[in-house]
Amino acid sequence: MTTDQLIYVYYDDEGKILSYSKNSDSNFEEFKFKMIPFKFMKKFYNGLDTRAFTVDTLTIEGLHSEEVKNSKYFCMAPWVALHTAADGKILPCCASPPQEDYDWDLGKVRTTSLKEAWNSSEMRKLRVNMVTDTKSKACTRCYAFEDLGLSSYRQALNYRFMKHYDVVKDTLDDGTLENMNLKYWDFRFSNICNFKCRTCGPHYSSKWLSDALKLYGKQRPTDQSWGGSKADGDSILEQILPFAESVEEIYFAGGEPLITPQHYEILNLLIDMKKFDVRLFYNTNMSTLTFQGQNVLDLWKKFKTVKIGASLDGNYKRGEYLRTGQIWSETISNTKEIKKVTPHVKFELSPTISIMNSFNLLDFHKEWVELGLINVEDICLNLVLGPEYYRIDILPEHIKKILVERYKEHIKWINQHATSRTVARRFEAIIEFIQKEDNSHHLPDFVSMTNKVDEIRDEKFVDVFPELKELFID
Ligand SMILES: C[S@@+](CC[C@H](N)C(=O)[O-])C[C@H]1O[C@@H](n2cnc3c(N)ncnc32)[C@H](O)[C@@H]1O
Ligand code: SF4
Repeated sequence: MTTDQLIYVYYDDEGKILSYSKNSDSNFEEFKFKMIPFKFMKKFYNGLDTRAFTVDTLTIEGLHSEEVKNSKYFCMAPWVALHTAADGKILPCCASPPQEDYDWDLGKVRTTSLKEAWNSSEMRKLRVNMVTDTKSKACTRCYAFEDLGLSSYRQALNYRFMKHYDVVKDTLDDGTLENMNLKYWDFRFSNICNFKCRTCGPHYSSKWLSDALKLYGKQRPTDQSWGGSKADGDSILEQILPFAESVEEIYFAGGEPLITPQHYEILNLLIDMKKFDVRLFYNTNMSTLTFQGQNVLDLWKKFKTVKIGASLDGNYKRGEYLRTGQIWSETISNTKEIKKVTPHVKFELSPTISIMNSFNLLDFHKEWVELGLINVEDICLNLVLGPEYYRIDILPEHIKKILVERYKEHIKWINQHATSRTVARRFEAIIEFIQKEDNSHHLPDFVSMTNKVDEIRDEKFVDVFPELKELFID
């Protein structure tokens, strides 16, 4: 038999194979490229199963790695990582929920241990979905990014952790993976933050809480976990430190990682262990490089790979408005300090694109290149998908047209200066996003929320962003 012949399998309730058929009278086109590992099939497809898989897959009686690796939905995350959100929710990775219509998690740090979460029914289901190339709602965000042509977290994690693919083969039929392998750490130890950025909220920022209470009156039931406590962070730290020997990569966000005590405990431990090859990635608001007498640059000097995604959403007063707490002159001096003291640190802008910085982002990017603070390639674009009233695609059609022209000009400028097409492609994907849907029905909510937050903070959007003034005219 050749590998492109298809076999249909009939199971009894125990998962025992009753018979095979080469008959392709069913709608097999739909399943032709699906990889259903044999050992998973027996448990999940009782009775008559009209799905097909290749002979190759069947005969190896296990995972056909190339097919899984190349599948649309497979991700290494459930085999090498766990994530705790700033509100204490345990999740497979940071790209999984919260989403507006899907409040899902693997447990809460206060009541569930990471070990329990690792083989919780939801996590097992996710593993099974992935090896059977089935979509999972938890991964919607990655699919959305891929549909837009943007690189997804799934792709990034697969690129970096596929070398551990062998652990996938240790997965039991029900998705259990007995060995917990925390090679990739993305644990938000708390929501402690000194900023209250417009697009962010109290889940990630303790500073946001008082404004949120003014906005929403009182804590909503879903907000009970606002303000992840010190106890949560310490509990996470205690549970992950046993994996310090095998950790390969750590992503620090938060809250604000550079004012998070557990971040410094981890770095100091790794230094004591001489694990200087652990790769360190950050998103930081760039407000400070010192905390409790420690200068983070002294620690970064020891590590071979450190990459900073500087979360700056605009320049000057626009930056300060979008990221309340920011002092622009300090942002500049901290950036220069990093480049001078730790030149090996890879520094890039990581702006979060919303309707508010839609125009300014381009000037900001260009200015920082011209000032010599970054190379043209040193920018990674993050996109607000929610809250919906901050999405860039809620702009009215006539403004979208102007904006798209500006993005096209910017891409021309990028192409004149960049050595690869990577960054141009990122901006092209934003154009596609802008044009894809008409979400202008969210504009009234944008105006109303902006006015409310302005009032609480004694600020005025139109004074800072005159380019979007017309949205606020009745
Ligand atoms: C929650 S912050 C935590 C780390 C750090 N405090 C910082 O600002 O980089 C992580 C990233 O989320 C981004 N962010 C804020 N609001 C967002 C939203 N509504 N959608 C997507 N990303 C958002 C921030 O700009 C930042 O780059
Ligand atoms: S600095 Fe980061 S965590 Fe703090 S409010 Fe801004 S985006 Fe949120």
